[in-house]
Amino acid sequence: MAIQRTQVAIVGAGPAGLLLGHLLRTEGIEVVVVERRSADYVLSRIRAGVLETITTDLMERLGLASRLKAEGLPHDGFNLADGERLIRIDMAELTGKRVTVYGQTELTRDLMDAAPERDLEIVHEAIDVTLHDVNADTPSLTYRKDGAEHRIEAEFIAGCDGSHGPSRQAIPSGIGRGFERVYPFGWLGILAEVPPCSEELIYANHERGFALASMRSPTRSRYYIQVPLDERLEDWPDDRLWDELAIRLGPEAAASLVRGPSIEKSIAPLRSFVFEPMRHGRLFLAGDAAHIVPPTGAKGLNLAASDVAYLSDALIAWFKRADGAGLEAYSAKALARVWKAERFSWYLTNLMHRFPDTDAFARRMQVAELDYIAGSTAMKTAIAENYVGLSL
Ligand code: APR
Ligand code: PHB
Repeated sequence: MAIQRTQVAIVGAGPAGLLLGHLLRTEGIEVVVVERRSADYVLSRIRAGVLETITTDLMERLGLASRLKAEGLPHDGFNLADGERLIRIDMAELTGKRVTVYGQTELTRDLMDAAPERDLEIVHEAIDVTLHDVNADTPSLTYRKDGAEHRIEAEFIAGCDGSHGPSRQAIPSGIGRGFERVYPFGWLGILAEVPPCSEELIYANHERGFALASMRSPTRSRYYIQVPLDERLEDWPDDRLWDELAIRLGPEAAASLVRGPSIEKSIAPLRSFVFEPMRHGRLFLAGDAAHIVPPTGAKGLNLAASDVAYLSDALIAWFKRADGAGLEAYSAKALARVWKAERFSWYLTNLMHRFPDTDAFARRMQVAELDYIAGSTAMKTAIAENYVGLSL
């Protein structure tokens, strides 16, 4: 078996693993990233693309933000729709901050492309990654590649392997605990090479259900509608989806809706999940490995970024100054921000979707809350500061 020694072994080459790997490498810390899939497979995933300044600041700090600055779309506001009107949340005015629309795939590509020149070792197609002795001073992981067995001995392991990876499973069941909410619907998403119907995002709560108008560029749009969990993709030809979007987004958006053939169409379930603690011994969890949010608040990638901001600072302090305070504080500090983002995502999901028990009274409550938001600077500010991302 080939044995390799490093300082930090990272499981997963998604946004969390790649951001962490680069941040550690810029400080000369030895890192190996092991990823189950090929680079092409990782880049083939369609994901959300609303970046908080925490995420764009990390890319700036890494000197990897040139494409993001050239192609990213700065957004000062977004809209809530109640089926009749648009309620604009002016983030820039209310918080002094904005978000940037830039596909997660593009951010992952920027991080992946920069790996060779920055000596960030990524082992793709690493099979059966298994963690060992995470609670000892000598944690390690093993994997197979091209039929050969490999072992990596590290000082720390970062579990950035998403919601179905092995890292969280390496924490004994008596130690960790999961908190979950599964939503009784999914999002049917469509990607189309047509100009967006609106320059800003529109989250719509319509009598028939939720819809979201988003985009990837001035010529590429991303739309979603809420559908029942058992919905079949084949029951949604493009025309039916465009018709439903026109209804749910409301007359103002519908008037600008440009139709076109879907280049991607899929249904994704919605779930809230948090695993505590985010650390066990020398294993640290970051990103989807520790938590999942419904996409309503566009928090998934940004929570991965804030976890990595905390964890990279803590690891750098340890290796540079033998200061373990950040490592000791990591789980509680990351979870404090995670839970507030989980709350906001849960709140916006409940406000904007039709649940099976959304009876006439519950519908009136949703409409009344949207009406209150429309007239309240305090409510708009609370929503804006959560959407742009709470401070680290
Ligand atoms: N061995 C090695 N790698 C693995 C394994 C495994 N057993 N299991 C999963 N992985 C890899 C996946 O292939 C993926 O590339 O870990 C990576 C995890 O990446 P993400 O799932 O993207 O999670 P994260 O990096 O935390 O980013 C969170 O991604 O999924 C979206 O909505 C989510 O926007 C959020 C962001
Ligand atoms: C997207 O553009 O895919 C997107 C944007 C905002 C969300 C979710 C998804 O809240």
